[in-house]
Amino acid sequence: MRSGAAVLTGRTVVLGVGGGIAAYKAVEVLRGLSKLGAEVVPLVTDAATHFVGRATFSALCPEPVRASLWDGPEPVPHTALGRRADLLLVAPCTADLLAKLAHGHADDLLTATALATRAPLLLAPAMHSEMWEHPAVGANVATLKSRGTSLVGPGTGPLAAGDSGVGRMAEPDEIVDAAVSLLYDAPAPSEPPAPSGLVAAPSGALAGMAVLVSAGGTREPIDRVRFIGNRSSGRQGHAVAAEAASRGARVVLVTSSALPAPDEVEVVKVETAQEMAEEIGKRAGEANLIVMAAAVADFRPRARLEHKMDRSRGPVGLELEPTEDILASLSAARRPGQVLVGFAAEVGSDLARAAEKLERKGADLLVVNDVSEPDAGFDVPTNTVTILSRRGVAAKVGPVSKEQVARTVLDVSTSLLAT
Ligand code: CTP
Repeated sequence: MRSGAAVLTGRTVVLGVGGGIAAYKAVEVLRGLSKLGAEVVPLVTDAATHFVGRATFSALCPEPVRASLWDGPEPVPHTALGRRADLLLVAPCTADLLAKLAHGHADDLLTATALATRAPLLLAPAMHSEMWEHPAVGANVATLKSRGTSLVGPGTGPLAAGDSGVGRMAEPDEIVDAAVSLLYDAPAPSEPPAPSGLVAAPSGALAGMAVLVSAGGTREPIDRVRFIGNRSSGRQGHAVAAEAASRGARVVLVTSSALPAPDEVEVVKVETAQEMAEEIGKRAGEANLIVMAAAVADFRPRARLEHKMDRSRGPVGLELEPTEDILASLSAARRPGQVLVGFAAEVGSDLARAAEKLERKGADLLVVNDVSEPDAGFDVPTNTVTILSRRGVAAKVGPVSKEQVARTVLDVSTSLLAT
């Protein structure tokens, strides 16, 4: 999963677990948050214990499992937990919990804690499609969102009892990423809370603009089963695409990542550098802004073997040829006013080398991240970047969530679009 970067050290997440089949995945969420250094307090509802026993959570974290208003270690557990929490996360969040949270019920420890806390609230809904699509649930979600509650998911896929459709809880990795995003982007404790859980995008700032984004690491086939790949997850590019769409742009995301499609974004799936070059090439002409966040392979095997490579044939050499430099091609063919943004994963923050790369590739901006930093790069939910323009350093952020990096990249890019 992720590297051991302890980006959540010192943060407390109260993890409310509702009574749905996805409760078993809350265990993975707990592990994911703990691995990132968070103190996680499991808080299970009665219904949740029908799906996962308290012992499972106890075995995985030092905090006692909280379940009731009456027999916890604190005399007034809901206010104590509410004050301790930097984030209240509910995963899975059932239709019943959504209703109770929307209406301010407080008849068990989880709902009472939700009322007693001033920490951001993040919900990962999970239920059957019919329930998720019911107007009553929709109204509760709208109420919660209007108060600044954040939601992650639900996605589409297998549900309980062999059914399938919308309502499946987001995957544990996505939930952990959303939690990191909220914790990183939350105001410092001395500042008043933001009116909404996530920083509000200047919606409409990119209205009428076409934005083309690439994401993920390409895979260059060696034979039918093997490929040369890299550790890029695609999270950063997907975050840029989602942010551009939320600012009103028409967004096409050309991606090799298996991450879910962001809302309001047209997704084109590719695998190789050549496919990425073709799909981007087809759409580049109409784009006002192109963000190349993909980790495109620099080399590919010259020939793809038709059969699986046979180990008994002893040592083999692999002949590699360079791939097309998509960013450089885009720059050579760019139309007036189009803004080009590249990303560069560097080991060590050698800005002179990055400035040379910006020049060589003909981009307007280069988002440089030092992948030797524990909180930055491929396999972590956060990033630390320096954005270089032709005039020098345009912005520096981090460690912050990849969503926050996306916002900064788009802020700087938008200022260039306007000039
Ligand atoms: N890029 C591209 N096509 C390639 C390789 C990279 O468009 N074949 C883009 C990436 O999407 C990124 C930028 O170029 O936006 C910089 O990628 P990087 O891998 O750092 O550049 P390289 O050309 O590989 O530079 P070097 O090998 O010198 O580090």
